[in-house]
Amino acid sequence: MPFIPVITIDGPSASGKGAVAQLLAKTLQFHYLDSGLIYRLTALAARRANIDLQDEARLAQLASALDIQFDGEEIRLNQAPVGAEVRGEACGADASTIAVLPAVRVALLARQRAFRQSPGLVAEGRDMGSVVFPEANLKIYLDASAEIRALRRYKQLKEKGMYANLEEILHGLIARDARDCTRSFAPLQKAADTFFLDNSELTVAQTTDVILQLYKEKVSDLAS
Ligand code: C5P
Repeated sequence: MPFIPVITIDGPSASGKGAVAQLLAKTLQFHYLDSGLIYRLTALAARRANIDLQDEARLAQLASALDIQFDGEEIRLNQAPVGAEVRGEACGADASTIAVLPAVRVALLARQRAFRQSPGLVAEGRDMGSVVFPEANLKIYLDASAEIRALRRYKQLKEKGMYANLEEILHGLIARDARDCTRSFAPLQKAADTFFLDNSELTVAQTTDVILQLYKEKVSDLAS
């Protein structure tokens, strides 16, 4: 088996893990897994198929047969490009509703693990280091204050020309964090072997540099 390193970045909504993971993957020329997107696509597919978001058996079936493709920036669901809807707050809330269901999570495991390909992977989400890649070479938990995260999400949505209300976003984030942290199966948690990083005062580039440095130290430890 060739050595395929994995760096996991877990953290709450809008902690900047997406932007940081993408920059890190680009810098290291690694593959990139946005696991939240897979949950979002499952939720979107469920909505379109009129499946009740509590119907665990049907949702798990849908998740295991999900027809999704990533082609550069383009994301296809059932062969058709998905629009900005998949990144909206409503889809995020739906994703977090179905993410509570163990059978859905299990159904998505193999799909996520398949992203581990040479020369390496940067995977971001909520349970990357705890469940999907417990053997990862470097595990990061990224966080920032709820107010800063809400402001980041607000700016992101505005930049995309989407509806955004700061107060609503803050309440939505707090509710989503609570659901993600308290679910009994694969909750968002700071595992003991995880490096905790608060990036409230750091830019994406600075956060990425810190992680890059940690990774270089890990790799030189592995080599020695
Ligand atoms: O990261 P993002 O906001 O796109 O994720 C949407 C939702 O998907 C999260 O609020 C969370 O409930 C769920 N999720 C998860 N496990 C992951 C990634 C996302 O439960 N690894």
